[in-house]
Amino acid sequence: MTDSINTIHIDLGERSYPIIIGPGITRNESLERHISQRNVLVVSNETVAPLYLEQIVNGLGNRLVESVILPDGEAYKNLDVLNRIFDGMIEAGFGRDCCVVALGGGVVGDMAGFAAAAYQRGVALVQVPTSLLAQVDSSVGGKTGVNHAMGKNMIGAFHQPEAVLIDTDVLTTLAQRELSAGLAEVIKYGFIRDAEFFTWLEQHIDALLERDTDALAHAIRRSCEIKAEVVAADEREHGVRALLNFGHTFGHAIENLQGYGNWLHGEAVGAGMCMALDMSARMGWIDEQAKQRGISLIERAHLPTRAPANLTTAQIIELMGRDKKVMDGQVRLILLKAIGQAVITAEFEQHVLETTINSALDA
Ligand code: NAD
Ligand code: GLY
Repeated sequence: MTDSINTIHIDLGERSYPIIIGPGITRNESLERHISQRNVLVVSNETVAPLYLEQIVNGLGNRLVESVILPDGEAYKNLDVLNRIFDGMIEAGFGRDCCVVALGGGVVGDMAGFAAAAYQRGVALVQVPTSLLAQVDSSVGGKTGVNHAMGKNMIGAFHQPEAVLIDTDVLTTLAQRELSAGLAEVIKYGFIRDAEFFTWLEQHIDALLERDTDALAHAIRRSCEIKAEVVAADEREHGVRALLNFGHTFGHAIENLQGYGNWLHGEAVGAGMCMALDMSARMGWIDEQAKQRGISLIERAHLPTRAPANLTTAQIIELMGRDKKVMDGQVRLILLKAIGQAVITAEFEQHVLETTINSALDA
């Protein structure tokens, strides 16, 4: 079993930490080794806690462990529900020397992470991501936060964890739709940074959907390696980190307009990446064949390739104007120069953006 455990180091000076990936990680000594604090608050949700909370608590030996169980879903990723975590910490009498463990998907990870960033101006955090999306993306890199009714992830903080512990065994209980949503972020890494990985994904997408353990382990490892490189180069998103938002400017607008939770984050990113591919092709940056390869992989991952037809172009453009990448009032988009090579740009004609969205909305 030890041979199948991989450690990736994310190099951020005094905020550096390991990402440990392997089967059964939450049942071995990793948990105790990476949590030195005596007081531990495990934040989870009503779906994940019945499956994995007990094994986490057992793995924490003689520590004082309290838990806060949140309702499940993106619709609860807001400031009101966040307060329940603070209530739990204050009621338990926890001080600055406690550790928050985020046990769940990206929603739990983002909320528990934000609570850890803000509680008494910052306490330790360990991420134990349980969805594929959280394992390949949201648990790594220190972005935490909640949604506002008017915009996705509008309120938050950067707060790096002490460790990310990825137990690949927990994916066996993940719903198939959620697995596909996670694959959206995996595919994203191929698009923005690694043409070879993209080709590997074309060859292994069916194995991934069938939860082949070797294929999943490779996809998770390569995704975390790419994310670790990008975050180490630009922790606070002054430059290259924005590339991790490929497909997200369109996707966040779809998610918000559909009502949080109706389209999964990864599904909105899937459709958003197709829109970004189409726009890259309209600008002459990629050829039709590259665009079709991209759309075909997203389709094969059982993700939507078009935006929901009930939306309008004007609505999407308005929401895109609230994106966190907007600078001096100008929307900036992540587009492709080739598969494996993304750029951030404000150099596009408004009519090309409008045509791209119109065409994605066509019934
Ligand atoms: P999620 O947290 O809602 O989890 C998906 C569903 O799977 C939930 O119902 C959850 O309870 C369930 N689940 C999780 N693990 C399970 C398991 N092992 N077995 C059974 N069920 C399980 O959604 P998500 O896709 O994990 O994350 C999406 C969120 O992540 C969004 O809010 C998005 O904004 C955020 N995100 C953040 C970052 C970041 O850098 N912080 C990056 C990408 C996405
Ligand atoms: N998911 C985008 C980022 O972590 O920067």
